[in-house]
Amino acid sequence: MAEFDLVVRNGEVATGYGLARCDIGVKDGRIVALAERIAGGERVLDAGGRLVLPGGVDSHCHIAQPEPAGFVHEESFVTASRSAFAGGTTSVVCFIPQFKGGGVWEQFTAYRAAASEAMADYAFHQIVTDPRPEILERELPAVIAEGVRSLKVFLTYDPLHLTDAQYLAVLALARREGCLVTVHCENHDAIRWRIAALKAAGLTAPKYHAWARPPVVEREATHRAIALAELVDQPIQVFHVSCAEAAEEIARARARGVKVWGETCPQYLVLTAADMDRPGFEGAKFMCSPSPRSVEEQGRVWQMIRQGVLDVVSSDHCGFSYGTPDGKRMNGEDDFSVVPNGIPGLGSRLPILFSEGVSKGRITVEEFVRLSAANPANLMGLAPRKGRIAVGADADLVLWDAERRVTITNALLQHAIDYTPYEGLEVTGWPVCTIRRGEVVMQDGRVQAAPGSGRYLPRGRYALVAPRGVVPDGFDAARL
Ligand code: URP
Ligand code: ZN
Ligand code: ZN
Repeated sequence: MAEFDLVVRNGEVATGYGLARCDIGVKDGRIVALAERIAGGERVLDAGGRLVLPGGVDSHCHIAQPEPAGFVHEESFVTASRSAFAGGTTSVVCFIPQFKGGGVWEQFTAYRAAASEAMADYAFHQIVTDPRPEILERELPAVIAEGVRSLKVFLTYDPLHLTDAQYLAVLALARREGCLVTVHCENHDAIRWRIAALKAAGLTAPKYHAWARPPVVEREATHRAIALAELVDQPIQVFHVSCAEAAEEIARARARGVKVWGETCPQYLVLTAADMDRPGFEGAKFMCSPSPRSVEEQGRVWQMIRQGVLDVVSSDHCGFSYGTPDGKRMNGEDDFSVVPNGIPGLGSRLPILFSEGVSKGRITVEEFVRLSAANPANLMGLAPRKGRIAVGADADLVLWDAERRVTITNALLQHAIDYTPYEGLEVTGWPVCTIRRGEVVMQDGRVQAAPGSGRYLPRGRYALVAPRGVVPDGFDAARL
C-alpha cells in the first residue's frame, strides 16, 4: 500500500510559517508530511509552482436557513457546497434558527438533517432570538453539548432582535457554557425611527436602505455590544463590520484587553451605497445589512484589516434570488424596508479578497490565508484541524493561480441564486483545484463530490473564548 494517498508536488505552499516551496503528503484525508521532496503517492498532483493555500473557512453563511417569516433561503447544502468548492472554500459555518416563542433543540435536529447532504464540511452557529428560562437552562446547553460552540444574536431586525436584558442573559449563558457570541450590531429603534420618517417622506426606493442605517447606528450598537460583553466578561465577535467608526470601537476595547474580534465581508470592500441607486428594483441586488458604504469607507475598512482589528473576512452568503417570487421580490418592489436583506457571496469571497487584497498589493498571501482560513478556524474552535497547512490538519487545499484574470459572472459561481452582485468584476487570481480531506472536489471549475460527503464539525470548549477573569468590583454576576 502506498505511504501516501495523494502527494501535491511542486507548490508554493502557505504553511503556518510562511510560504515554502515543498511537497505535501496526504494519508486518510489528513496532511501527514511536508517536505522538500516527497516520493511516491497513489495519486500525484503537480501544482506547477502555483500557490497551495488552505481550503477557505467561511464562518458566516446562511444556507437553507428557515426564516421567521416562513421562507427558507434559496440555497441547499448541495448547491452551496458546489459554490464553496468552485471558489476554494472547503468548510462553512451556518446558522440554526430560533423563532420567537419556539425552541432550539427541534431546530437543531431539523437543520442537522438538512445539512447531512452537504459536500463541504460544516459547523453551526445557534441563533438566539428568545432566551426564555427553559431555552437558557435546558435547550441551549443540550445543543451546545452537540458541538455548537457559537451563538448568534441580533441587535436589530423585527422578529429577531434582543433587548439589552436578553443579550446579557445570552452572554452569561455563553460564559457558563464556553461559547463564542457573535453579534449583529445595529440599533433597532434608531433604524425603525429612520424608516418611519423615510416612508412618511415617500422615500421608499432601494437606495434608502442605506439612509435608514447610517454608520452611527452600527457604531452605537457595536459600542453597546462590546460594553455589555465586557460587563459579563464574555468574548464576542462583531459580525459584518462595514465602517471604520464601528471598527474603532473594537480597537479601543482591545486596547483595554477585552476579548473582541471583528469580521468584515467582500461587500464592504467592493460595493457602495450607490450600487443600490440603480434603476427600478435593481438596487435590491446589493441590499444587505449593515449597508455597503462609500469608496472612502472601503479604504478605511482595508486600513482596519491591515491593522488586524478586522481579522476575518466571511461572505455572509444569503440565498435570495432577484427574479424569483420567493427571493428579493417576496414582499413586493415598492418598499425597501421589507426587502429581504443579504446577498450571495460564498463562491466569490476568496477571489475578491485575493484580487483586491493580494493582487492589488494591500495584503500579503500570508495575510490572505489568515483572514480567509486560519483566523476563522481559530475563532470558531475548528483549529488545528481546519484553516492551516500543517501535519495533522485535514488535507483541505486549494491550488491557486495568482496570475489568472477572470471576469466574474454568475455562472462561474455555481450557486443556486440567479445573480451575483459582483457580475462583471474583474479579478486577478483564481482557484483552479480544490481538495477536501484529500479528495479532489473541484478541478478547473468542474465540481465533483458526492452529496452527503461533507462532515459535521462538532466543536468542544476551546481556550480562545475563555473569559479573562475580569469583572467590575470582582463581582461575577454571570456565575449566578
Ligand atoms: O443583510 C444581511 N447581512 N443578512 C443576513 C442576516 C445577517 O444579518 O447576518
Ligand atoms: Zn447579521
Ligand atoms: Zn449573516
